[in-house]
Amino acid sequence: MSAAARKIDVSANVLLDIRPLQPTIGAEIHGVDLSRPLDPEIRDAIRAAVVRHKVVFFRDQTLDDAGQEAFAAQFGPLYTHPANRHVNAVTPLHEISADLQAKIEAKRLHQDVKRGDEYHSDTSWRLVPTWGAVLRAIDLPEVGGDTIWVDANLAYEGLPEEVRQRLEGLHVTHDYRDALLANGHDYPIVAHPVVRTHRETGQKILWVNLTQKPQILSVDLAESRELLDEVLRQYKRPEFQVRFSWKPGSVAFWDNRGAVHYAVRNYGDYPRLLRRVLIADEPLYADL
Ligand code: SIN
Repeated sequence: MSAAARKIDVSANVLLDIRPLQPTIGAEIHGVDLSRPLDPEIRDAIRAAVVRHKVVFFRDQTLDDAGQEAFAAQFGPLYTHPANRHVNAVTPLHEISADLQAKIEAKRLHQDVKRGDEYHSDTSWRLVPTWGAVLRAIDLPEVGGDTIWVDANLAYEGLPEEVRQRLEGLHVTHDYRDALLANGHDYPIVAHPVVRTHRETGQKILWVNLTQKPQILSVDLAESRELLDEVLRQYKRPEFQVRFSWKPGSVAFWDNRGAVHYAVRNYGDYPRLLRRVLIADEPLYADL
């Protein structure tokens, strides 16, 4: 980690009550009211905590839809997703609802993604994926419906050296065109390095979206599948994960460049509902 990043971490810990949940991933932040505009210092400290812990959680918040957008907008321009269910008009805020997830999952299961394997990052189909996401609980089952985030740097570090060498220089494509076309949008299929370097922390990140027909280029299909299985095995290791149980008033904020995530669907027919806002990457990168 660079000296600059270390400096930011220290100030974040002084300014905020940050309680890590796992050694490298996940922390609860207490004592901040997200419904009020943040002092620039507090905003920067939260951002530093998100980058450092990869996902942070706030409890007992009172955000409404506009408040959620306003909170997220303090961390960068908001991204309007073309294929998600919007709440009212087409705005950055969109719904993560159990019924929609079930429909998407039913489609995906025809595309070789097994239930339980749907680890992903958001907007990985874009040349410049969104950097951050703010997810807010709306309607929750009494128990269940947790979300898991994976430290994708640890996932990389934990690979056998031989696999790390094989992945060196390889790129992966993510194909989301069906969903985009169904919503009147199109986008070329782009390839990203399987191992990306996080430009703020310098960490190596094992970065694959298992839900969007990933394919590793420059190797044959069988080898691509074998390597993707290795990636998935890493994502599933509890040592690399943090698991969050939602409660009314919970908000999660994560760094989409450093973590992948997975929604646990163990709540039957309950109409679990969350709302999400995605934060675009810096203009320098978003313009690419
Ligand atoms: C997401 O994939 O962003 C939503 C996670 C969840 O539904 O828990």
